[in-house]
Amino acid sequence: MNAPTHRRILVTSALPYANGQIHLGHLVEYIQTDIFVRFQKLRGHDAVYLCADDTHGTAIMIRARAEGRSERDLIAAMRDDHLADFAGFCVQFDHYGSTDSDANRHLCSEIWKSLRDKGLVVSRDVQQLFDPKAGVFLADRFVRGTCPRCRAADQYGDACEKCSATYSPADLIDPVSTLSGATPEIRSAEHLFVQLEPMQGFLRQWTKESGALDPRIANYLTGHFLGEPLRDWDVSRPAPYFGFEIPDAPGHYWYVWFDAPIGYIAATDEWSAARGGSWKEWWHRGGTNEPAAEIHHFIGKDITYFHTLFWPAMLETAGLALPTKVRIHGFLTVNGEKMSKSRGTFLLARTYLDHLDPAALRYYYAAKLSGDIDDIDLNLDDFAAKVNSDLVGKVVNLASRTARWLAGKQLSETYPNDGGLFARGAIDGAEIAAAYNECDFARAMRLVMAAADRANVYVDAEQPWKLAKAGPESAEQLRDVATVALNLFRQIVVYLTPVLPELAAETGVLLGVPIRSWEESRQPLTGVPVAPFKPLARRIEAPQLEALMAASMPTAPPSTLSNPASFGNASMTTETTETTETTDPAEPLAPQCTIDDFAKVDLRVARIVTAEEVPEAKKLLKLTVSLGGEERRTVFAGIKGFHDPAALVGRLVVVVANLAPRQMKFGLSEGMVVAASGAGATGVYLLSPDSGALPGMRLH
Ligand code: 2FM
Ligand code: ZN
Repeated sequence: MNAPTHRRILVTSALPYANGQIHLGHLVEYIQTDIFVRFQKLRGHDAVYLCADDTHGTAIMIRARAEGRSERDLIAAMRDDHLADFAGFCVQFDHYGSTDSDANRHLCSEIWKSLRDKGLVVSRDVQQLFDPKAGVFLADRFVRGTCPRCRAADQYGDACEKCSATYSPADLIDPVSTLSGATPEIRSAEHLFVQLEPMQGFLRQWTKESGALDPRIANYLTGHFLGEPLRDWDVSRPAPYFGFEIPDAPGHYWYVWFDAPIGYIAATDEWSAARGGSWKEWWHRGGTNEPAAEIHHFIGKDITYFHTLFWPAMLETAGLALPTKVRIHGFLTVNGEKMSKSRGTFLLARTYLDHLDPAALRYYYAAKLSGDIDDIDLNLDDFAAKVNSDLVGKVVNLASRTARWLAGKQLSETYPNDGGLFARGAIDGAEIAAAYNECDFARAMRLVMAAADRANVYVDAEQPWKLAKAGPESAEQLRDVATVALNLFRQIVVYLTPVLPELAAETGVLLGVPIRSWEESRQPLTGVPVAPFKPLARRIEAPQLEALMAASMPTAPPSTLSNPASFGNASMTTETTETTETTDPAEPLAPQCTIDDFAKVDLRVARIVTAEEVPEAKKLLKLTVSLGGEERRTVFAGIKGFHDPAALVGRLVVVVANLAPRQMKFGLSEGMVVAASGAGATGVYLLSPDSGALPGMRLH
């Protein structure tokens, strides 16, 4: 087989938003990309894996405000979390930047200038919903209201989850800002747009002919977007906005989706500069004498048109290199459904790492990913069964049942006759490599497991345990059998190195020769010492999965407040005796508690976002409360009859945020709204903080 030609490959994953934690859905992409890059490096190519945090936009601004800290402070903290999570899953970036960097600001200005120079930027007024309480223009996802088509309540500002209608937030019925609960106003503001229609010809050609897109995606884009005039792309936001101010348009900021993909180039810039090179070596269009670099973007299907319309249009205008491949994957479901906090299937990277081995997830994802756009399912039972059967039962078992016969000894001096198994495995290497190269990791894993099956059949037939019992006259034969088994094991591990880098490193230690290249699958090892065997993989047991899901439920164990009276999870008893104006405690005071007891109860300021009657319940209102940022809870509160639901929307209350969720007849209650009542009171009185308090603030 010919040595593969040397390639220069720049690879990116989508930049994760700085305002959220990494979860197992994200990891489908980062693990997929990491496997691809590790494979290319193992093949001897010059591959570089770049990523960054995506730091700008309204969401981060609002969250920082809610937490009473600066955006920079929040970004720095999230970056540390993200990097720790990625390292935990062996996702190895060559550089991890931030879209808030100087390099990115500079590159945004350069690309902006090209767009201006080509006359593609135009300005016009846009009507947008404005939250008068929070003082910000509202992105679509910060508005909820009733769908104008099917009348479903509590739908997002741009699309209805019930009937799939898409609309403008201004069309929503009874819109509510989820930031403050205020009714948004329509305000007009100037926005800057990039005209895409002049790029239509280029985009059509690139979509159809470049080979960057899977033909199904290319057909979809051609049919859905490129068949009609392309709408101008709104790329600016008026203040206040957390982002880069546009140098020639003071008071206007680039929309987060303008500067985010430029972050790929900024990351290249920082990485190259640290090596005395330049980003231009990757992003400038190659001359005829230099080998052109490849650019591969891995993304989820939800951000397809940012990467297949806007991004190539920007690159083309700036005269920069276009993506070689945009590799699009589907979403993750867990146990067949969308990840869900209340079902305990919203699985954070960190929580997973507290309970399970990252290698297991890497393998499972590899076995599921075939390079197409279909969603993949993490069925937890299937996950355990597959990891236990393949990784533990087939691969590691090969070493665990043969290495011990040679611990402290050496492999045979010449490679024994194995009936052609190693040679067959070496030939399969080309097909396995082709599968990796096409991101059909599922196929690669099937081929590798078939090799493991063949190797296990060999061991079963040779019965080394019988040879071991037979004594010294069988020692050479035993050594030969173990030599074959360990070489077949090592060959398999070479093929699994992109997926299981730690297994590869440990196999290097076991046989004294590190695995550094794909070529090592072609030559058996002989005569090298074998180290004592250490367990290389563990079975997944049911209690680990149960613990993972339990730890992924939204809240910690319950705490009860004796006074003031609380409503929500706890069923409420309201005493409506005659009114007295007494301020004496109507109930005896509860026994003393310590400050530590009190600290167990996480009391937060929350904003009521929606409030509705539960028709079948005498005392309950169903509330959705915002705890700041994206954090939301549904709470059933026993205040029906005392409060008009419509009047509650938008007001601040106090909730017990860490109360264990409780399944009630009418749905899951995920917290408790604090209110005062008791003998001598005719009503229940919600507590409100002083003005200035924001959702998410903790009560101390
Ligand atoms: O969808 C997202 O999570 C975005 N933060 C991805 C940005 S990718 C790139 F263009 F920067
Ligand atoms: Zn609808």
